[in-house]
Amino acid sequence: MTTALITGSTAGIGSAFARRLAGDGHNLVLVARNTERLREQATELHDRHGIEAEVLTADLATDDGIAAVEKRLADRRNPVDLLVNNAGFGNKGQYLEVPMEDELTMLKVHCEAVLRLTSAATESMRERGRGGVVNVASVAAFVPRGTYGASKAWVVQFTQGAAKDLAGSGLRLMALCPGFVRTEFHERAGMGTSNIPKWMWLDADKLVAAALADLARGKTLSIPDPRYKALMGVVKVTPRALLSGVTSRTGRKYGPQ
Ligand SMILES: NC(=O)c1ccc[n+]([C@@H]2O[C@H](COP(=O)([O-])OP(=O)(O)OC[C@H]3O[C@@H](n4cnc5c(N)ncnc54)[C@H](OP(=O)(O)O)[C@@H]3O)[C@@H](O)[C@H]2O)c1
Repeated sequence: MTTALITGSTAGIGSAFARRLAGDGHNLVLVARNTERLREQATELHDRHGIEAEVLTADLATDDGIAAVEKRLADRRNPVDLLVNNAGFGNKGQYLEVPMEDELTMLKVHCEAVLRLTSAATESMRERGRGGVVNVASVAAFVPRGTYGASKAWVVQFTQGAAKDLAGSGLRLMALCPGFVRTEFHERAGMGTSNIPKWMWLDADKLVAAALADLARGKTLSIPDPRYKALMGVVKVTPRALLSGVTSRTGRKYGPQ
């Protein structure tokens, strides 16, 4: 039996990964800040699928939180075979409206934690000659979309670069770039979603199924939906000035909807 560690497992895309991987018979290490919610999730997945689910409470915006997860990933006696770096959030407001402290917290969770956890996991996986890492980025990585998009661009570049450097080691690393997914994300960030067209919304379970299929195929970048694949094709040939007029606003309506 293999073990997967998922950060941000208790809601949204992370909980869809947990459901799917438990259903496939993987043991899980569930990571988030809310211990009660983690325990409920672990019990539910254990009862439903008969798998072992460990709870690891950690705030990935802190050094102690990151170190606790690094330690678990480095445990050679109880190895992790698949790491899903999924925890993330959006800040309320556009550039210069967001306090610097919150901008730095985003870099800590989206970039530093992803770098450190990927490194802890892959060092151990490389010794065994197998293992996988999914780093959840966003299609925002490819368009002008504030500091959030910039942090996700880092995730894509880092993951594809690391995948190249580790080619031939038996490891698979993939950046996952979802479009809009109905989760707790937008409400937590205080973002209005009324200007997002219905067709742009993705289902988290379908997204995860497509992402895992892409990982199995050895892709290093997954944009798991034909609508967004087509959209990203258009993005590539659209002048950035024109693009930013639309992408910097869509789904970034703050305040009451
Ligand atoms: N939803 C979208 O439209 C969308 C689109 C593209 C990419 N994404 C990306 O997908 C990932 C998951 O987002 P989601 O939409 O599923 O969000 P979500 O529903 O808000 O879930 C976020 C999860 O991350 C955990 N988390 C947040 N901050 C954390 C921290 N500092 N330390 C540890 N855990 C933390 C939360 O649990 P606790 O609060 O208990 O810690 C929760 O389990 C993010 O990286 C996001 O940027 C989302």
